[in-house]
Amino acid sequence: MRAARPPGPEGGGGDPVPLLKALAAVGGLSEGLGALGGIINATLERIEIFNLDMKTGDTLKVKGKISSDANGFSINLGCSFSDLGLHFNPRFDESVIVCNSRCSNAWQAEHRDKHFCFSRGSTVKFVIEMLADKFQIKLPDGHQVEFPNRHYYNKISYMSVKGDFRVTSFKLE
Ligand code: GAL
Repeated sequence: MRAARPPGPEGGGGDPVPLLKALAAVGGLSEGLGALGGIINATLERIEIFNLDMKTGDTLKVKGKISSDANGFSINLGCSFSDLGLHFNPRFDESVIVCNSRCSNAWQAEHRDKHFCFSRGSTVKFVIEMLADKFQIKLPDGHQVEFPNRHYYNKISYMSVKGDFRVTSFKLE
């Protein structure tokens, strides 16, 4: 879904229903989205939810495929992209996982974890648990990354996945 189709002989000006087509294409994702009843912006590469209802103690499972030419991707949790409690950002070019928070559009101090267990083109699952004082992210190989809940969020309404990662399913429980 990176590029809209050019106008065809039928005179169409690109894809009229990219969201619906994206949801149909990812299959299992539609179930999760339906349950959340959120306001959603989604394409195959990018997903953004504005009324998630994640609370302290909840766990979010995100499954998807890393692109075969990936440079990096991020899973973001907060109130909006300007205010994030967690920006979880594996970077292939540096072989590092960068975690950070964001306050009124400004990035805060980065945490860097050199435990880089991802490979391009693979299907992976992340399990993110939100606790009162920290986020715990379980990586596909079982290693856990921790990042402080700096804003002491007890409710997360915003989630996005950006970059070279295609979400196939997610679940909040
Ligand atoms: C920046 C990068 C952002 C974000 C941030 C995290 O360098 O442009 O996308 O990853 O680091 O600290």
